[in-house]
Amino acid sequence: MKIIFALPTLLLAALSASSQVSVSHLLTENLPDPISVDSKLPRLSWQLSSPDRNELQTAYEIQVSDRPSGGGSVWNSGKVASDHSLFIDYGGPAPEAGKKYFWRVRVWDNKGRSSEWSKMASWQMGLLTPADWKAQWIQAAGKEEPSQPSPLLRTAFTANNGIASATAYITAHGLYEAQLNGHRVGDAYLTPGWTSYQKRLQYQAYDVTGLIHPGKNAVGAMLGSGWYRGYIGFEQQHNFYGSDLSLLFQLVIRYKNGHTDTVVSDGRWKSSLGEVLHSELYDGEIVDHRKEQKDWSLPDFNDGSWGGVETAASPKDNLIATINQPVTKHETIRGSKLLTTPKGEKVIDFGQNLTGWVTVKIKGRTGDSIRLSHAEVLDKEGNFYTDNLRRAKAQDVFILKGGEEEVFEPRFTFHGFRYIRVEGSTGPVDPADFTAVVLYSDMPKTGEFTCSNTLIDQLQHNIQWGQQGNFLDVPTDCPQRDERLGWTGDAQVFSRTATFNRGVDNFFTKWLKDVAADQRPNGAVPFVIPNVLGDGASAGWADVATIIPWNLYLAYGDKRVLENQYASMKAWVEYMHAQSPNDLWNTGFHFGDWLFYRPFDDNDGRSAVTDKYLIAQCFYANSTQLLINAAGVLGKSEDVDTYTALLKRIKDAFLREYMTPTGRLVSGTQTAYVLALQFDMLPEPLRKQAAERLVKNIQDYNYHLTTGFLGTPYLCHVLSRFKQTDVAYRLLLQDSYPSWLYPVKMGATTIWERWDGIRPDSTFETPGMNSFNHYAYGAIGDWMYRVVAGIDTYEDDPGYHHSRIWPHPGGRLRSAAADLETGYGKLSSHWQLEEDTLHVDIVVPANTTSTVYIPAPEGGLITEGGHNLSTVKDVRIEGIEKGYLMVKLGSGNYRFRVSQ
Ligand code: BGC
Repeated sequence: MKIIFALPTLLLAALSASSQVSVSHLLTENLPDPISVDSKLPRLSWQLSSPDRNELQTAYEIQVSDRPSGGGSVWNSGKVASDHSLFIDYGGPAPEAGKKYFWRVRVWDNKGRSSEWSKMASWQMGLLTPADWKAQWIQAAGKEEPSQPSPLLRTAFTANNGIASATAYITAHGLYEAQLNGHRVGDAYLTPGWTSYQKRLQYQAYDVTGLIHPGKNAVGAMLGSGWYRGYIGFEQQHNFYGSDLSLLFQLVIRYKNGHTDTVVSDGRWKSSLGEVLHSELYDGEIVDHRKEQKDWSLPDFNDGSWGGVETAASPKDNLIATINQPVTKHETIRGSKLLTTPKGEKVIDFGQNLTGWVTVKIKGRTGDSIRLSHAEVLDKEGNFYTDNLRRAKAQDVFILKGGEEEVFEPRFTFHGFRYIRVEGSTGPVDPADFTAVVLYSDMPKTGEFTCSNTLIDQLQHNIQWGQQGNFLDVPTDCPQRDERLGWTGDAQVFSRTATFNRGVDNFFTKWLKDVAADQRPNGAVPFVIPNVLGDGASAGWADVATIIPWNLYLAYGDKRVLENQYASMKAWVEYMHAQSPNDLWNTGFHFGDWLFYRPFDDNDGRSAVTDKYLIAQCFYANSTQLLINAAGVLGKSEDVDTYTALLKRIKDAFLREYMTPTGRLVSGTQTAYVLALQFDMLPEPLRKQAAERLVKNIQDYNYHLTTGFLGTPYLCHVLSRFKQTDVAYRLLLQDSYPSWLYPVKMGATTIWERWDGIRPDSTFETPGMNSFNHYAYGAIGDWMYRVVAGIDTYEDDPGYHHSRIWPHPGGRLRSAAADLETGYGKLSSHWQLEEDTLHVDIVVPANTTSTVYIPAPEGGLITEGGHNLSTVKDVRIEGIEKGYLMVKLGSGNYRFRVSQ
């Protein structure tokens, strides 16, 4: 009997579950269960999911408590009528330093249903004020050896029974790697990361509950020079932030009975030296296993011969929690290909240009050594080529203890390379003993673009690897030469593309705070951030201050980034204002359209030189526009009015100075027309002719681009906006120099700094500046996502809360597909041409809507899920525009078929 009744009950349960809305992906400050939040108003986000179409949230309720069980309420939002599911401000009493909070949420939807409570998520507050730090800054006592070996610092301590949790808070002047009881603490590298240290020094928090036990314990830390005092910038400067290597360490152990113990760095710690003889970010690391102090972070280690430490009164008021994802290890590539070059060098090819280092397994005699040099390319003859690293040595040296097999890995350096040269005294080289380890900031992968053209797929691969390799705590220009700096221009140029491939909101939010911190009192934004180069502010570079906050707002719908950066945005616009008598910014140094096309022996004036002040005026207008946009979002109506008036004057001044009455720009380059059109510098009636001049210019170069860093990101977008997507496709598919696919054809696995880093005859561009891993020209990725596959967000409802999907089949592609993990969930646009049918498959995440443009040829038939469109109730037809049928969709999966 029971069984007979059980069946319908199960069925019923399954049915009601399938018509459920549920809540998951709970994030605090964009992170899953973070443990060092220092925002007083942490923001909470979640995702809805439902098997049904048209799912929208109508209300939510959040519960925050201080117990994992959910009891002991700290704050209850009550039922709030709202469709917001991202970045909801916590509204309870001020959270306490070090304390852990648990939260959950439930929602109501537009179908009158409510979800179950979500699973419990949590966040833990970091240390909030200097007074929360009981630890003292310590450094090894005595005079440092001139070769600057890495010091080891340690202490032992006792923990009691009944440990409930333990959190370690650590930072350093220099880089640190900490150990507890013989285990590495955490999986982050190059910590504490790079910020404008004097003003902002990050500490990391680690949950070390599993590493501590009742009884005797020990903690140790090894330090390295890093950005703090190592060799940094192409002027070979050392000690930029200071000359000390110091540690600040605080461990808080909480017991089940409510007591806590705190273990801190103080004058009782001991110090010694270990196996790292020397390290520099650019030059590499020397590790000598004969100097290894085995088990030095175990409690029973005999540190009787160790020296003492000195405490230092270094500041603590610059300490901040870490909000971006730390640098961690990612892909590993085992060596498989050993080459002997014409010069006789032993070279291993990892097949991919990357950022990281190589670990080595090796056996030999004591004192044997092996030296690994790193290079991105081989030269024309096939020899190992390092001239383009300039003064960066990029060499790791490993010295063996001898006997057993040994494993070496550097700690306080990184390299940009595809090849290593192996030299040393350890006998024949087996490539399988060498593994390349890829390092980058642990940003979640959010986007994927693929299409039917394998060269473009390789271009997308190169863009992604260029991004990974240069998002190493700060957005760097390159990972290999004596530079690796946070170049502002490069970062702004690439920022929109970056938001597609990976979750870069926290990465850039952190860096933008350094932009603001290093901005000059007069509003000037230095060339690199953190600023290690000195003064200057260039158009297209300094505009990072307005462009990235706005791009983050668009991609993530995060208003707080605009709030945080508003003063910096405004100060930058005011700087330009002050430089511009008569509203014309025609003063000062500018990089201009960096690395634009310029042929050798240029008798016919083919070089695409764009007047630098024309460019400056365009960026001045753009930054002013973005400031107006931000002021609008933040409700600063006075600023909207003031800067709208200013913007008009800027554009008027542009026309007077740079355009002839018939609409010609003084620089007839692609970049000039692209910027003038992209930033709406020209009055509406003159835009069409300008777009035609742009197309004519492209044709004059036989469908080649000639743009540099500043024109390139907007080139194809401008063409598409003026109905020239076919020309944009011709540029994308062009594979002779200069073009995006030329490097791909030449075997590139990352984006090059120059269009012709390797010339068609296999010789190199000037070694003074020839990186093979520079992401700027990868900015075309944005057009591939937003136009080819057609995924975009409406600016008045950003973060893809109202998305626009507008696929643009063309360019002889048979298919293209983009998937994007938005804050709300997955958004997809896939199109495919099959004989005379176009397939358009769309996924719209819950709690969002999408306006979709479906190509609608005259007399064609459009179906969705096999049904005539007019009969599908979930598809609302909104009109016809430019040969496309516009439909409005709620969440869900849709399969459109267009037959001719
Ligand atoms: C960097 C850049 C940067 C440029 C500015 C170069 O050295 O690598 O990418 O934007 O300088 O001039």
